[in-house]
Amino acid sequence: MPAPSTPSVSELPVPDHAALPDPNTFLRQHVREGLSRPFKTLSSMYFYDDEGSRLFQQIMALPEYYPTRTEFGLLTHHRAAISQALRPQDPAESFFLLELGAGDGLKTKILLRELLETGASFTYVPVDISAAALEGLAASLRAELPDLRVEPVVADYADALRLMAGRPGRKAVLFLGSNIGNFLPADRHQFLLDLAQPLTPDDRLLIGFDLQKDPRRIRAAYDDTQGVTAAFNFNLLHRLNRELGADFDLDHWQHYTDYDPLDGAVRSFLVSARAQTVQFKALNWTVDFRAWEMIHTENSYKFTQSSINQLAEEAGLQVANFFTDEQDFFADVVLRIKN
Ligand code: AVJ
Repeated sequence: MPAPSTPSVSELPVPDHAALPDPNTFLRQHVREGLSRPFKTLSSMYFYDDEGSRLFQQIMALPEYYPTRTEFGLLTHHRAAISQALRPQDPAESFFLLELGAGDGLKTKILLRELLETGASFTYVPVDISAAALEGLAASLRAELPDLRVEPVVADYADALRLMAGRPGRKAVLFLGSNIGNFLPADRHQFLLDLAQPLTPDDRLLIGFDLQKDPRRIRAAYDDTQGVTAAFNFNLLHRLNRELGADFDLDHWQHYTDYDPLDGAVRSFLVSARAQTVQFKALNWTVDFRAWEMIHTENSYKFTQSSINQLAEEAGLQVANFFTDEQDFFADVVLRIKN
């Protein structure tokens, strides 16, 4: 099969934002709302500008950050069974392999290679909010897997879900890396309902879940000794300085993170190391911070096999296959709609 020419990310079918205001509007509204709450909060979604995506690449290579290399190992080990569980039984039947938050696609390439080698007929649709990350992915796929049909899309999860619902034909949807851990339980439930809604009985989801384990190991993964995770968290403040004309002085902010075994959540914070006032020029607005006041910036939930069964069940889904590594650190779970 000849490789169709892959468009560059800048000419990609970006969802129709023409009717929407400047994308910064969402960030502005989010910041105003989040920093007006009694316990200030900002969404980890805003970590992933191009610089944040680059820092996350560095996190994935850290000795303490076990999830990525564990999932990589488990996908490598189970690649035949996972590919089998995702694709139509008839090899001639073509399907869409959609990936939410594709990033650098390093783990996905294991499955893409396996599917190509076993003659599957499919189009890979990586979706990510970082155009630079997608551009890098598209370039590496052109070089490494020239026969692959790729249609990258720059979009957030909501756009990706709309795009997925509008696609006729069989689908396998990938949501790897325990990105699902970022949702609060109620949001996760709604997200899974939205994800399940357009699925037919032939469609599959593959979701990566980081599992509960030694709490010290979990905590260390979010507080590395080189300070890369801290830089990733601080990038949010740099971003507000850049994009909203804020004047956060990074000398007076600290990275703090904790793991709560009661609900399986790692929570990350930015801590104001002294009383200070931050100005947002673009918002005509100032925000006061008390000494040691915090901004909650991220949740990273950890799961168990039974919590995964339960959240699937609650969304009208069922676990078709449960793949894990030798240490039970991480699970890649194949889901389908309940029959
Ligand atoms: C990309 C959301 C899976 O929560 O483990 C890594 C992001 N934050 N270190 C995670 C992250 C701090 C990561 N996810």
